[in-house]
Amino acid sequence: MNEMTPVTDTATDLKPAKAVPALPDAQTVTQVKHWTDRLFSFRCTRPASLRFRSGEFVMIGLMGDPDPKTGKQKPLLRAYSIASPSWDEEMEFYSIKVQDGPLTSKLQHIKEGDEIILRPKPVGTLVHDALVPGKRIWFFATGTGFAPFASLLREPETYEKFDEVIITHTCREAGELTYGRELIESLKDDELLNEVIGEGFWKKIKYYPTTTREESPKMGRITDLMRSGEAFADLGVPPLNPESDRAMICGNLAFNLELKDLFENTYGLEEGANSRPAHFVVEKAFLD
Ligand code: A2P
Repeated sequence: MNEMTPVTDTATDLKPAKAVPALPDAQTVTQVKHWTDRLFSFRCTRPASLRFRSGEFVMIGLMGDPDPKTGKQKPLLRAYSIASPSWDEEMEFYSIKVQDGPLTSKLQHIKEGDEIILRPKPVGTLVHDALVPGKRIWFFATGTGFAPFASLLREPETYEKFDEVIITHTCREAGELTYGRELIESLKDDELLNEVIGEGFWKKIKYYPTTTREESPKMGRITDLMRSGEAFADLGVPPLNPESDRAMICGNLAFNLELKDLFENTYGLEEGANSRPAHFVVEKAFLD
């Protein structure tokens, strides 16, 4: 799972990161971009020893305020998918801002030069190792569930292993698609991918953004669009099947469960894991 319980509950009293000296596992923020009033992304330095597989997550956070009784401070950490690929010299994260969220109410105020805590222990199931070979890979995201796919879309292995890469992203409002759209557009000029996979590698990508609560060129939940057959007709591909299709899912809990049910009971796909690769893998997107 890509979401964990808080390490401490004293989050409401957190101070901004820059006010806290000598963080354990400290990394320095190098860039912050605000996409909407609910979404932001940031980049930070990468621990020299950290190796991870594209699609994995780590625990990141800030230091909580001193306990009123003991004076001790505890880190407040959450699981965040790494949005940058494994080869990137920096780390990137894509986050929601929840105004009363224990961590994100504070994390949303970080600025270049601030420090965050990053525990260098990557884990996760949205990795190529958890899937058996196939022809086409599907990435299904809602909201900030796009983050692990921002990593995997920049990962050469994705294009080495698959002929077609389909990314669907369902959000409430059109502005919530911008981070993903700009990232996908930027792939055309990605030097590493053009060099390693070949010019025009990006033609393997099919991007299918949809919104549910604001007008956009394609409206509706991806689950409904698949059930009706509309998504497959739009994309010009047949419905998923165990011979050719592999999938990774990262969204809210209801979305994940609905897709898992659809995959297992309609398309006949089997869920995989690091220890037992199969046709699809699921992880919950970070929500508060
Ligand atoms: P909807 O607006 O119809 O609820 P959230 O911000 O609540 O995490 O939702 C992100 C997006 O995921 C929204 O567009 C939402 O659609 C959609 N969504 C929520 N639950 C499901 C589900 N069970 N199946 C498909 N899409 C879902």
